[in-house]
Amino acid sequence: MLLPKDPGGPGIPKSCVRMTKKPKKPNFSIRAAIAGVHGYVPPDVLTNAELARMVDTSDEWIVERTGIKERHILKGKGLGTSHMGAEAVRGLLKKTGTAPGDVDLLICATTTPDFVFPSTANLICDMADIRGIGSFDVQAACSGFVYALTIAAQFIGSGAYRKIVVVGADKMSSIIDYTDRATCVLFGDGAGAVLVEPSRKYGILDTLIASDGAGMKHLHQKAGGSRMPPTLETVAKRLHYVHQEGAAVYKFAIARMADVATELMARNNLSKDSIDWLVPHQANRRIIEATAERIGLPANRVMVTINKYGNTTAATIPLCLWDYEQRLKVGDRLLLAAFGGGFTWGGIYMTWAYNTPAPRSESKTGEGSRAKGERKGLAVRLAAIAKAPFALRAAFPVFLPRRT
Ligand code: ACO
Repeated sequence: MLLPKDPGGPGIPKSCVRMTKKPKKPNFSIRAAIAGVHGYVPPDVLTNAELARMVDTSDEWIVERTGIKERHILKGKGLGTSHMGAEAVRGLLKKTGTAPGDVDLLICATTTPDFVFPSTANLICDMADIRGIGSFDVQAACSGFVYALTIAAQFIGSGAYRKIVVVGADKMSSIIDYTDRATCVLFGDGAGAVLVEPSRKYGILDTLIASDGAGMKHLHQKAGGSRMPPTLETVAKRLHYVHQEGAAVYKFAIARMADVATELMARNNLSKDSIDWLVPHQANRRIIEATAERIGLPANRVMVTINKYGNTTAATIPLCLWDYEQRLKVGDRLLLAAFGGGFTWGGIYMTWAYNTPAPRSESKTGEGSRAKGERKGLAVRLAAIAKAPFALRAAFPVFLPRRT
């Protein structure tokens, strides 16, 4: 069963938990593997000290209760989520040596689309010079990237597509009330993108997604949709911002993230020692630690970026993969786990498909040094493949040859 005997878990309101159907393990005849990852965070940083000048809070409270030190905020007139998504996608295509014309499908997970329509995926394609392919948005709040990657795995698994770009991007600062100390300290802006390709050996082995709409009352944006379109009154009442009952969401998050991780481990016969990395959604450092503790993973096998990016909603998981890319090795077993507004939750079990040569500089905050390292890494990989395709094959993803 996906849910434990006590469906609510300790302290979780029963009203927001319904039993789900037991989801079947997918049977992929072609496996979808991540062949590259890239991220983008805007240059402007909002520190805890700056927030403490805006609302009644302190660096000490924010660090102790959430683990967040700073977050990046997208500034600039006319820049929306698509700007960050396109930056991530352009970097991904360059880094993986992929021509825009070779991309078969682009999926963007976001809760803060530039417009109600057209989709942010459509806009990103245009900005990245990707033309004529299918592209669409997925809305599952903080679980959006896991949902989108699950969809991509199905398209690869059916043989329909061979190069899919999956983006997780959110400009949370556009829907955050910077007079509400309970929410404004948590969120940041950013985007991450992965290239998904078929592989014989590595990639996604299992996926699991779930939702419970009864959780809506604990986490939502009251106005701006079709139920309550924008009016002068909704703006005056500040109804276009994130409304969150933090304590209820907190309890739900730990229980559901641990459930999904436990379920994936059970049905894939994985012990805690066989997981190399937990890649959890980054909402609160305490939620991440509690989830890892429930499945028995030590801190050195858990990806954490919340200290510097905050909660970037659909972008947290691809930003984690981007940040830890240098440390990932071919064959590493990764467990992705996410939860978010809806409520939604989900997880993915996969094996990592490639090694990345270490760059000279390990700095993650300097965009310049990071990009330089990635260019060097790609150049080394391409040169190595050209020189010794068979000897080095084991160190690189073993992707299926392109069908003619
Ligand atoms: N600075 C100082 N004090 C604060 C702050 C702040 N920034 N925010 C809240 N407080 C106060 C509260 O007012 C309260 O004071 P009171 O006791 O006098 O009433 C006190 O701190 C404790 O408040 P709690 O809400 O109980 O604090 P908690 O330890 O639960 O932390 C938090 C709050 C960080 C929001 C936590 O509940 C949390 O992380 N919740 C989950 C968030 C999450 O996972 N969201 C889902 C993803 S978002 C998405 O899907 C879009």
